[in-house]
Amino acid sequence: MPAKVVVGVQWGDEGKGKVIDILASRSDVVVRSQGGNNAGHTISHQGETYKLALLPSGVLYPKVDCYIGCGVVINPATLLGEIDAITARGVSCDRLRIDPRAHVVMPWHITLDGLSEDGLGKDKIGTTRRGIGPCYMDKAERVGLRMHELCDPTLLRQKIQAVGTRKNQLLSDFYGCQPLDLWEITAEFEEYGKRLRPYLSDVSDLTWQALQDGKNVLFEGAQGTLLDLDLGTYPYVTSSNPVSGGVCVGTGIGPTAINEVLGVAKAYTTRVGGGPFPTELFDEVGNTIRDVGHEYGTNTGRPRRVGWFDAVIARYGVRVNGLTGLIVNKLDTLSGISTLKVCTAYETQDGQRLTSFPAAIEQLELCRPVYAELPGFSEDISGCRTFAELPRACREYIAFLEETAGCPIVMVGVGPGREQMCVK
Ligand code: GDP
Ligand code: IMO
Ligand code: MG
Repeated sequence: MPAKVVVGVQWGDEGKGKVIDILASRSDVVVRSQGGNNAGHTISHQGETYKLALLPSGVLYPKVDCYIGCGVVINPATLLGEIDAITARGVSCDRLRIDPRAHVVMPWHITLDGLSEDGLGKDKIGTTRRGIGPCYMDKAERVGLRMHELCDPTLLRQKIQAVGTRKNQLLSDFYGCQPLDLWEITAEFEEYGKRLRPYLSDVSDLTWQALQDGKNVLFEGAQGTLLDLDLGTYPYVTSSNPVSGGVCVGTGIGPTAINEVLGVAKAYTTRVGGGPFPTELFDEVGNTIRDVGHEYGTNTGRPRRVGWFDAVIARYGVRVNGLTGLIVNKLDTLSGISTLKVCTAYETQDGQRLTSFPAAIEQLELCRPVYAELPGFSEDISGCRTFAELPRACREYIAFLEETAGCPIVMVGVGPGREQMCVK
């Protein structure tokens, strides 16, 4: 069964959108399995830039079927806005299908996300404030509203009255806020339901059929391994499972269907929001990488924190995702830096070496990175298309990442364009 998974290895924004866009040209189906409009995937396709949050990054190909699986949380206004915007640019969304089990992000989720963050003060997670955490909380509490309910006016009204009333109590009694107008929300969401109803279809069944028919299926990850609710830097994580295992529950496909797992990393590291980051740079080199690499959130515009490549994280990503190959993007951004550092291990306060990623952030916060230093390069590599064309220092840097990560590097990104890839 030719099914491939693409996941982020670091803290998101590794360039997954670009990789999906490239692989989608050889795929029949692209399926999103988790996250919501906290994701921001940028694609430079035939000279145009697209920023997608909920639509699978295969949508730019007219022949590719795009599915949103049951593990995704959907803000209907955002999704419809994306459909309208991309349709206006001549891209059809007719091949989009949405699983009826997927949960809906409601206005109270967005309000509560903001209130919770504000309440945490300096300890805030730095969420995207898109209501993602509160929506997954309701799913786990078994009070969430799902797409099939959104698209059924009777169920929608009942659910909004039942759940919304409790949320309004929370908002007014606990937070001292104005309650939300449930009738207004019902009218608004009924309209969304009407428009989204034609897209509803059982994604587990559709994906299974595609696999049975021998079609190429690509599973598109959002966020990244260290933002995983279980395996990431908890509590500075998102509320879903971006690791490859999340694909199975988020689409309704068993693990035996998957035969390739590609991890996407940057040639350095970035993260948005709070939480520990051992290789973070606070100097001019960090500022240069941020400026040259345009490291500002696709979705929120927030400046991304920047640091050196961390091979402890890469090894962890290889293990917890079962990676069969690694793709390293944005090597071009490092051009002009005379010495490149790679973290190969952590040193704990008592002088011990840690070569595997610790479970608790309290331990991670005390870790100091142990660096290897490699010679930098100054050439413009954006026109290179094979490993052999890369300058020697680049090849040595990539070989070192491959060796320390413990996974073959199959592609290296040298620019945002889909053609700007060196393939091994
Ligand atoms: P995603 O969330 O993983 O899809 O990544 P984002 O789209 O949020 O962030 C990656 C950014 O880097 C986007 O602006 C891409 O266009 C850009 N990008 C991807 N690969 C490369 C690369 O190899 N070189 C450069 N310079 N930019 C890249
Ligand atoms: P893509 O798919 C980078 C981060 C937020 C915050 C934490 C929790 O573009 O790689 P949330 O709103 O999910 O509750 O926020 O997760 N975060 C991302 N960081 N890329 C993303 O997605 C992210 N999605 C969430 O910044 O630190
Ligand atoms: Mg992104």
